This record gives sequence, C-alpha cells and structure tokens, in this order.
Amino acid sequence: MPVAPYISDCMASSSFIRKMFEEGIQMKAQFGADKVYDFSIGNPDLEPPEKVKRLLSSLSQSADRGMHAYMPNAGYPKTREAMAAKVSREQGVPVDFSHIIMGTGAAGAMNAVLKAVLSPDNEVIVPSPFFPEYTHYVRNHGGVLKTVQTKSDFSLDTEAIRAALNGKTACVIINSPNNPTGKIYSRQDIANLARVLADHESKTGRTVTLIADEPYREVVYDKREVSPIFPLWPASVIVTSFAKNLSLPGERIGFTAVNPACTDARSMVDAIIFSTRILGFVNAPATFQRVVAECWNEPVDYSSYERRRNSLTSILNAAGIVYAEPEGAFYLFCRVPPRKDGSGGTTDSQTGDEGAFCEHLKKYRILGVPGKGFGKPGWFRLAYCVSQSSIEASRESFIEACSQW
Ligand SMILES: Cc1ncc(COP(=O)(O)O)c(C=O)c1O
Repeated sequence: MPVAPYISDCMASSSFIRKMFEEGIQMKAQFGADKVYDFSIGNPDLEPPEKVKRLLSSLSQSADRGMHAYMPNAGYPKTREAMAAKVSREQGVPVDFSHIIMGTGAAGAMNAVLKAVLSPDNEVIVPSPFFPEYTHYVRNHGGVLKTVQTKSDFSLDTEAIRAALNGKTACVIINSPNNPTGKIYSRQDIANLARVLADHESKTGRTVTLIADEPYREVVYDKREVSPIFPLWPASVIVTSFAKNLSLPGERIGFTAVNPACTDARSMVDAIIFSTRILGFVNAPATFQRVVAECWNEPVDYSSYERRRNSLTSILNAAGIVYAEPEGAFYLFCRVPPRKDGSGGTTDSQTGDEGAFCEHLKKYRILGVPGKGFGKPGWFRLAYCVSQSSIEASRESFIEACSQW
C-alpha cells in the first residue's frame, strides 16, 4: 500500500532519537544492559508516586457504572477543576475549570492547540535548540516552523524573535525548562518577549498566540522557579502533562490551560475542545484523568535527578566535554570536544561534527543524540534520567572515548 511521500520523507529525516533508542535496545541485547550507557531518550526512570498505584488499585475495584464511558470532550469537570487549581497556583492568577481542556499528553494537547489556531502557511516561531517533534506538530496543521537561535547561554533572543515576526506569524512556542538545553527562561525574558509581541500587535493589528510547553515545569534545580506567562501576555496557552513530573509518559495524560485574560477565551477553549475531538483523541484517557485529579500535587523528590546531573557533569568534566549547565529537566547539552590534535571541536565560532562524535561514542557503548535535529549542529544531547549506577559505570567509557577521539 502506498505511503504518502511526505510521511516517508519525514520518517527518513526525523526519527533520530527513536533510532538511537532502538539501537540501544539492540546493543543491550548484544553486550548486556549494564554495559550500555543509554542517554538517548527522556524516559523518566523514577517510579510514579505510591498514591498513583493505590488509586489505580481502588479504581479497579470501583462499583461505579460508566467509569469507562465517553465523557465531555474537554474531560471530567472534577479533573479540570484540579488542573485549574494547579495552574492558578503556578500562574498567580485565577483560572477556573472552564479554561482547562484535558489532553493526551503534552503532545496531544499541543496538536489540539495548533489545530485550533493555524491556517495554511501560517508560521510558528520557536527558539532553537528545540524539541524536534514541533516541526511535525506544526506541519500536521498546515503551518511552517520558523526557528530563531537563542543567545550563547541559550536564553531567549527576543530581538531575533522581533525580526522573525511577520504577517504570517500565528504563534510562538517556548519550552522552559528546555529540552534539550535544560535552560529556564527568566521572567525578564518572558516580559521582553511579551513586549515584542505587543509592539507587533500595535503595528500590524495581529495577535500572536504564545504557547508555553511545560512538561518539565516541576523538574528544576537549585530552587529555581519557572516564570508564569499568563500575567505577562494575554494571548497565551499552556500545554503540559504528567509525563515527566509524575513519571507517567506512557499513560498519555496532560492538559491545555487557556489564559482567561485573552480576547474571546471562550471561542479558543471551544476550538481546542473541538480539535481534540476531530483529531481522534475524543477525550483524554479516563482512568488517568481520575488519577491526576487526586495526585497532581503529590510531592516528588527530584533530588535524585540533581544527583545524576552532578555525577554526569563530573564525568564530563573529567573527560573534557563542555556542556550548558542545566537549570531544569534532565538533559545535558554538550559541545563536540576537540579531536586529539586539538582540531574540530565546537566553539563559539566553529561547529564540530556531532554525527561523527555520536558514532564514535557508540564504540564505547555510549548513546547520545546529535544536536542537528534539535536545530544545533556541533552539539549533542545526553538524557540523564537513567540509573545512578549506569551513570557512574559510564565514567571510564567517556574518558576513554574522549582520549581516543
Ligand atoms: C519539550 C517537550 N514537549 C512535549 C513532550 C511530549 O510530552 P508528552 O509525553 O506529555 O506528550 C516532550 C517529551 O519528551 C518534550 O520533551
């Protein structure tokens, strides 16, 4: 049966994280799981809170009828109320349940939002490096992704965003803490971005929607906080999930919050609900809506990710690999180191060959992901949501790999 050429092209060019993940599975079968250092994918290795398991067990015994039935497309009112409490607390402005639409993970939520806002050939600006799936999510709905480089410390370059705005721009997507850099955009950066969008609106009469993709909001280090966006830019939505903070990526549970301060918030909410339906999600998974309604604010200890970050950075320091210090999430974004003769490393003025370096790392059974797909050649990403023992065991391999590069 013929596959659409556009899908074949996308598959050929874009499945690099999954490809690494699958190579990791093969290598583990060949060498033994403990001999392969797989930093390829952001699959949290903490277990979900105990309360999740207790709730699942009691839900399975429930005598209530209709537990598995269709529901309103936006989700259960009780769950939406719980999410509204979460968002109100994080954003510091009141948000009620009518502005929440439950979604199938942050990815499903993002697709429903893009479906609701994009017209053919609209542009979506994203600061780069960025989560590569955005390219496809935007294209799914007829839009075009336009990347804008961040500054050298990966903070927002709001003047570069100003320069990229034009009559076709429908949205800006920001992701903080960021995958792949671990950067948290400061409140000042978001305020500057809001000013740029306001200037654009007063000049052109066009309102640009700001989409904040926040699945890593809670995974932050050194007591850092993620800035709210609702008080800063009215035309904004948040898409998020419980994939990373509660370690539930396979359960596909997330939501969208629409800023109540935006013009015509009701129409936007209705459009996202409709999009959730017609994309075939229909509604977010029923059982996990019940779970997150009770567990959204369960305390989770992220200090083990911080310890892993510290262990991996000490190994990279010993190996001579330079990286951006992550402020949140669980990724280290690293420069390709110089070769033995001092040549070819990534510097501010020179781009090393990250594809060759990631291939080289594989010889030492280390899997990292080349930065090109994140929009940043010369860099590579290591996901450190893997066991502490695996990180520690990788030390000699990193050091040996770099000394033989
Ligand atoms: C930045 C970012 N956005 C969205 C997602 C998708 O999250 P979910 O599994 O909740 O759909 C991911 C997953 O890795 C991500 O890193």
